[in-house]
Amino acid sequence: MRVLGIETSCDETAAAVVTEGGDVLSDVVRSQVALHAPYGGVVPEIAARDHARAVVPVVREALARAGMTAADLDGVAVTSRPGLAGALLVGMQAAKGLAWAAGKPLVGVDHLVGHLLAVFLRRDGAPLLPSPEPRPSFPYVALLASGGHTAIYRVDGPAIGAIRELGATRDDAAGEAFDKVAKLLGLGYPGGPVVDRLAATGDAAAAAEAVPALMARKESLEFSFSGIKSSVARHVARRGRPEGQALHDLCAAFQGAVVDALVQKTVRAARAEGVERVVLGGGVAANRGLRARMAAACERRGLALFVPPFASCTDNGAMIAYAGALRLAAGERDALDLAPETRTALPRVTRKGGGVR
Ligand code: KG4
Ligand code: ZN
Repeated sequence: MRVLGIETSCDETAAAVVTEGGDVLSDVVRSQVALHAPYGGVVPEIAARDHARAVVPVVREALARAGMTAADLDGVAVTSRPGLAGALLVGMQAAKGLAWAAGKPLVGVDHLVGHLLAVFLRRDGAPLLPSPEPRPSFPYVALLASGGHTAIYRVDGPAIGAIRELGATRDDAAGEAFDKVAKLLGLGYPGGPVVDRLAATGDAAAAAEAVPALMARKESLEFSFSGIKSSVARHVARRGRPEGQALHDLCAAFQGAVVDALVQKTVRAARAEGVERVVLGGGVAANRGLRARMAAACERRGLALFVPPFASCTDNGAMIAYAGALRLAAGERDALDLAPETRTALPRVTRKGGGVR
């Protein structure tokens, strides 16, 4: 089965052709990041307009690189939730038009399910690190940390009903915290990659007073990142923006606190669930500090860690095509009146806005 996946939920216009075995035949991602950079975050109206400009050429390119036309497809998958409503609509209209014109089945995909299954994508020359096993088996515990979402899931299978949220952030997503702190420090957008780079040569202990450790109730699997951002804001208000080594130190302290919380809670979740496999997903999975500390923590506890290649961690159409292919293979389809939803279909256990736990 060969399925086209279309993703426009946020600030990437993406399309890919993937088989139900997870082989990526093409994967085209057009980022809008430069358009949103002047605003320090994604502007929904700009996102929707740019998706409308880009979606047809991106889909054409994905088909061309796979050496196919729409007639060769077995179905069309599209992100239908969660995301920005106007942005989702653009991809969904394109998917519906193509599915209708080519007479192919349509399936909507929950973006978070796409991320949680992206570990099964097979890309030439991009093995999973650091695990020796080629692919995880179910069940696994997944940490999904991106600019829009941060949560820990237990994944017993690919269906929505087999995926359970164990804990999520009560306020900002981890990537959002990186982006907001980078903005405070004058480092541009998106903040994660530059903070990651500066932190590599910083001394977290030297800036410890600016960034208190994230106070967390021992048993909780929930996150809160707004307090740490406020601490950095107060530090900058009092002392001005740090420069030189002090900037590196502050980045190291901030990143260290965020990474510690992500690692501790993910490992705690795996142990509490009696699950032996841990999977990372989302753009923050690119963070070198997170990869290193998660690898060390998993190794100490005898957990197998699976970190997909970066192209599978950040938003992409391949994960949508793959999750859609599994739905199609299970005989599921959606009608052409499928509507976008801003919320995930996965049941949530974490109440937003509750502060630190
Ligand atoms: O998954 P993604 O591409 O898009 C969504 O948000 O869905 O994730 C983007 C986020 C941004 O917040 C960016 O700052 C963060 O991932 N990010 C990183 C790194 N690379 C990207 N955060 C920390 N360290 C990185 N190396
Ligand atoms: Zn995403």
